[in-house]
Amino acid sequence: MNKIIKNTFVENFVENHGREPRVSITTFGCQMNEHDSEIVMGLLNERGYTQIDDRDAADVAILNTCSVRENADKRFFGTLGQLKKLKEKNPSFVTCVCGCMMQQQHIIDKLKTSYPWVDVIVGTHNIHTLPDLIDNLIEEKQRQMEILPEAVEIIEELPSQRLFKHKALVNIMYGCNNFCTYCIVPYTRGRERSRAPEHIVQEIRKLVEDGVVEVMLLGQNVNSYRGYGEDGVWEFPRLLEEINQIEGLERIRFMTSHPKDMSDDLISSFRKLNKLSKYVHLPVQAGSDRVLKKMNRRYKVSDYLALIDKLRKTVPEITISTDIIVGFPGETEEDFEGTLALVERVRYDSAFTFLYSIRKDTPAEKFREQVEESIKHERFNRLVDAVNKISAEKNREYVGRTFSVLVDGFSKTSNMALTGRTDGFKLINFPVPNGLDGEKLIGKVLDVEVTEAKTFSLEGKLV
Ligand code: SAH
Ligand code: SF4
Ligand code: F3S
Repeated sequence: MNKIIKNTFVENFVENHGREPRVSITTFGCQMNEHDSEIVMGLLNERGYTQIDDRDAADVAILNTCSVRENADKRFFGTLGQLKKLKEKNPSFVTCVCGCMMQQQHIIDKLKTSYPWVDVIVGTHNIHTLPDLIDNLIEEKQRQMEILPEAVEIIEELPSQRLFKHKALVNIMYGCNNFCTYCIVPYTRGRERSRAPEHIVQEIRKLVEDGVVEVMLLGQNVNSYRGYGEDGVWEFPRLLEEINQIEGLERIRFMTSHPKDMSDDLISSFRKLNKLSKYVHLPVQAGSDRVLKKMNRRYKVSDYLALIDKLRKTVPEITISTDIIVGFPGETEEDFEGTLALVERVRYDSAFTFLYSIRKDTPAEKFREQVEESIKHERFNRLVDAVNKISAEKNREYVGRTFSVLVDGFSKTSNMALTGRTDGFKLINFPVPNGLDGEKLIGKVLDVEVTEAKTFSLEGKLV
């Protein structure tokens, strides 16, 4: 346990600087990582820190790391280098690092030997102790580090500083038991733990009272949710059913589902539950049985295709996205053509494509026959071309149709246009109609007619 020190960082800072400390957080990872950042900011906010986006103007900088691919690791160390310069200019500047990379010994060793100026290091299982660790810095005047090998308990009722007023990320479970051979997540996030259904429902009720209309239920593998309720075990469809009844909530989404746990019950939830978005992210990873087996995905191509058919038969308008890895060890041209064939057969609305990246201490690290970089890239480009062509074609089918869109905010490029998502998670931009205040439309569900299709988004007009 951390010591609770009376002389907190904030009090000390205010005394010396005449203002509250400014904190910036940079998130490198997935939505769970994003939500962890929201919680850290919620906790710091309670203690009197002010959040700012500009890292250069911060007094405390937090880097919330991801380790899923080498690229994420590299970006982290690059950013850490930039922070060193800030520290040289201002020795009282505080640098904190947290998230998935911190659960790996080789990273900790590297931080210890080469980054002595990092002040606070905290792992994924006890991220809520970060504010205490910053406080401890004042008394102990030395680096604070706390990493737990496994989660001890699920901490409830943590505050969260949401990115959006009208939508929220809600964790329903933590960790992963699947051990896909390429993946680091089971090592950085530990074993699966589901939150109690009552806690989840209560959290969402509170969020709705606070103006939230859409929740994204989060977990590495949400469809293996098993929460212990007062009346026994709840599986995922039952949890969805209960959430669907929350008055004032308009949309429910979830991420990510594993194909091996996509039950008939869950598929029929898409039909039965009026608030459940007709959208599913169902990572396939590869279109070759041989590769899937080596990945330890526990389904065959035919199982996956049967699931897609069942989903489309039950919910014809469902939109589907996926994740695909190219260049897994031992992937042959024939295996890769299987992936292309699968993409052509399923016709995804969108697909996230990744070059296989060796992760230290995973089983696939030891697999011989790593695919040559040039071949990986060549296959990757062919896959991206196929995926994008289909996305564009699918988007064109939307032109002329009207969808209800939850407005998220102003578009990235203009404050005369708004951006939002359809029920099927398609990104759509549309101009603010003359005479209307765009700001007031944020968080509303509006009918928007699609006027133009692009590869990754739609253009529309309010009807
Ligand atoms: N739990 C989710 C996704 C977790 S990570 C699932 O099982 O689908 C998100 C995506 O990153 C994965 O779906 C996979 O496509 C990709 N990924 C994970 N490890 C990777 C690696 N070592 N190299 C390349 N991509 C990887
Ligand atoms: Fe990684 Fe597989 Fe778990 Fe997803 S299901 S987090 S890819 S081990
Ligand atoms: Fe990255 Fe950890 Fe998420 S490794 S993808 S931040 S669970």
